[in-house]
Amino acid sequence: MNQNTTTFALKGDIVYAVDKDHIVTQKDGYLVCEKGKSAGVFKELPAKYSGIKVVDHTGRLIVPGMTDLHVHAPQYTYRGIGMDLELLEWLNTHTFPEEVKYENLAYAAKAYSYFTYDLQRCFTTRAVVFATVHTDSTIELMDQLEASGMITYVGKVNMDRNSVCNLEEKDAETSLRNTVEWLEKIEGRYRNTSPIITPRFIPSCTDELMSGLGALAAKKQLRIQSHLSENPSEIQWVRELVPASTSYANAYEMFGAMGSPDRPTIMAHCVYSGPEEMAIMQKYGTFIAHCPESNMNLTSGIAPVRKFLDAGMKVGLGSDVAAGSSMDMLKTMLCTLQASKMYFRLVDNNAKALTFEEVFYLATKGGGAYFGKVGSFEKGYDFDAVVLDDSLMVSMREVTVRERVERAVYNDADCIIMDKYVAGTQIWKKQCV
Ligand code: GUN
Ligand code: FE
Repeated sequence: MNQNTTTFALKGDIVYAVDKDHIVTQKDGYLVCEKGKSAGVFKELPAKYSGIKVVDHTGRLIVPGMTDLHVHAPQYTYRGIGMDLELLEWLNTHTFPEEVKYENLAYAAKAYSYFTYDLQRCFTTRAVVFATVHTDSTIELMDQLEASGMITYVGKVNMDRNSVCNLEEKDAETSLRNTVEWLEKIEGRYRNTSPIITPRFIPSCTDELMSGLGALAAKKQLRIQSHLSENPSEIQWVRELVPASTSYANAYEMFGAMGSPDRPTIMAHCVYSGPEEMAIMQKYGTFIAHCPESNMNLTSGIAPVRKFLDAGMKVGLGSDVAAGSSMDMLKTMLCTLQASKMYFRLVDNNAKALTFEEVFYLATKGGGAYFGKVGSFEKGYDFDAVVLDDSLMVSMREVTVRERVERAVYNDADCIIMDKYVAGTQIWKKQCV
């Protein structure tokens, strides 16, 4: 299938964000791809492109590929189970006992094939992924994602304390050695799959391990991903584990694990991040992975995304499977909208609910910024595109292109993904209509 890496156009109803307040639409337009990048959106095909291949999607929506900034691949096969628990109990009861199984490479290969197959068929074109502590099964996941054509960061997880079932590595030294071995084994192996240093969270990593990972990331110029301020009991535990810290984010900072603006860290959740944590994240150019479905399912809370946006912080969306039940980014968008409305009504009347424009931006260009010029159809952006057939949605009135996208988010049934491109390469096509 991997074709179309040169110049071609998609014809259809094109939608993209230019900034968080503006969605641009072009009905019956042409989206031109040149060498993997968008050459722009046009009402009529410019003369210089006459004769190029035009893929006719008339009547269908064409939206930018979406970025999932936070997803746990080994949790995919038990999503939607155990949701009456809060974070720490849920980890001990469901997550750690499942992740232990990934020591078995055959188990991992099968489970990761379900994850990769489904990720390839949804709106996501870029993802930042947690694997488990196991080196070989992490490499198996990376091999599968590479073969899928999606562009991802994947982390072998680091843990050297506080798992209930021997999931953790023996000690900090072993965990660091395993990480270096993993990096050596995959060096030069992939085009689209990059390693990311992945301390699970402060309760799973001793001070020695966290500082070692911060130093390793700096030495190898690698990025870091982790979890921050998700749940009140977790935050209290971090206070006890790192008594010298002034906040959870400061604990990461103390161990040199916050990265830098040119190597931005992703922090998932940030539900309880106040002014001090916001200032720390701004200093290091951190991307916040907002995971609203997870935060509702585990009764964690609602992250103050309005405050993050007003402060000019970098924010994208995460499905956080399996605390989130679905990798469908439209569902994540819907949860983002609904959670922000409840935050405004029930928590803080000064924090205006997010608009549809803002949430569309977060799912596309906001999270895409982690990968560079990604998540828009402006000229020069990587050509990540998803073609959507929404013709089954009956309507008795004329709907604009913008309204059709909003409707697809609020009514996630009856929409079919027809085609998917990553950096100009078609990675998936619906076989029968
Ligand atoms: N914090 C540490 N590990 C996890 C995890 O697997 N999921 C979530 N939601 N939070 C975490
Ligand atoms: Fe998570």
